[in-house]
Amino acid sequence: MDCCFMFRKTQAVEGDDGEHRVKIFSYSELRKATHDFSGANKIGEGGFGSVFRGVLRDGVPVAVKVLSATSRQGVREFLTELTAISDIKHENLVTLVGCCAEGSHRILVYNYLENNSLAQTLLGSRGSNIRFDWRTRVKIAVGVARGIAFLHEEIRPPIIHRDIKASNILLDRDLTPKISDFGLARLLPPNATHVSTRVAGTLGYLAPEYAIRGQVTKKSDIYSFGVLLLEIVSGRCNTNTRLPYEDQFLLERTWVRYEQGRLDEIIDADLGNDLDVDEACRFLKIGLLCTQDAMARRPNMSTVVRMLTGEKSFSVHKITRPAMITDFADLKVSSGQQKDHETRSSNMRSFSTTDETEPFSSSETPTQTSI
Ligand SMILES: Nc1ncnc2c1ncn2[C@@H]1O[C@H](COP(=O)(O)OP(=O)(O)OP(=O)(O)O)[C@@H](O)[C@H]1O
Ligand SMILES: [Mg+2]
Repeated sequence: MDCCFMFRKTQAVEGDDGEHRVKIFSYSELRKATHDFSGANKIGEGGFGSVFRGVLRDGVPVAVKVLSATSRQGVREFLTELTAISDIKHENLVTLVGCCAEGSHRILVYNYLENNSLAQTLLGSRGSNIRFDWRTRVKIAVGVARGIAFLHEEIRPPIIHRDIKASNILLDRDLTPKISDFGLARLLPPNATHVSTRVAGTLGYLAPEYAIRGQVTKKSDIYSFGVLLLEIVSGRCNTNTRLPYEDQFLLERTWVRYEQGRLDEIIDADLGNDLDVDEACRFLKIGLLCTQDAMARRPNMSTVVRMLTGEKSFSVHKITRPAMITDFADLKVSSGQQKDHETRSSNMRSFSTTDETEPFSSSETPTQTSI
């Protein structure tokens, strides 16, 4: 083992510059913090494993993510990747507190965010006490966009999140959004993914070129952000199979209303008069810009931030049709051309256009993955 990764209990891993970066927790310390990973402390489960609420010895509350066997790596690779992730700090990204890599355990320890995720609060069926007024929604949308712009454009090498969705947007005490799980795709063996397709609606966030052909680019994150933006303005999930068929898919419904000039019908009725309708419709149009079928037409994230804040205007004539996948049951993602062709014909919504797709620029060269 490389000497820089030798550690004792609760010692920090040293980076190249000698600075302590990732705190190392012992397994027994995390066991104590979470009451032996008890069911009562469990706060969620995703594609990577289970998440528990814990309290450290010094009283600090944390979220403890126990990675499942399939997402395990060797200690050295795990710590290398974690050191890289722990260096990344931004107001709109969740802070990694430390980790545990004892024996076969691979555990991540994050700051605990008391207001849970957007999926459970804004979109949750059980409701929540939080009132998402229009200014709060603007703050959340802009914050998430800034967080993604930072990952894409301000760090080297850039990080493509791959799993932007409401359950990965956590909210702190004053409802500042924090993107979680960034960089975790690096903790997986090659060709694996943590995208938890069993979670209802997850596929609705995936750009078709990612879900079907396995192309991972910044533009697939931008597509997911576009879907999330529509959810924030409409207050509903991207997919709701309890609704009449024509209303089930939020993106499709938004496009239809946009073409009819009735975009305001998409805005969450719960907002009442507490909103700026023009701004809300602008946000919906930005969501549509981000989800266009032609990847090259989707704006980059720093442009999205400037469009959201009103610093940059855009022409609505430039919005072209979105592409979406609706027949989730049959979707078998593969990087192979043949499967790609088969799934495409059965899953692509008929209004998708491919003739406007431009070739990838060198910085957008797709990488392959499979779900
Ligand atoms: N730092 C945190 N603070 C508070 N709650 C958290 C934190 N991290 C995760 N959670 C909760 O745990 C749940 C499960 O998280 P997890 O990331 O494992 O799954 P997911 O987000 O639903 O799916 P995916 O694995 O695709 O990210 C989240 O939805 C959230 O409610
Ligand atoms: Mg998550």
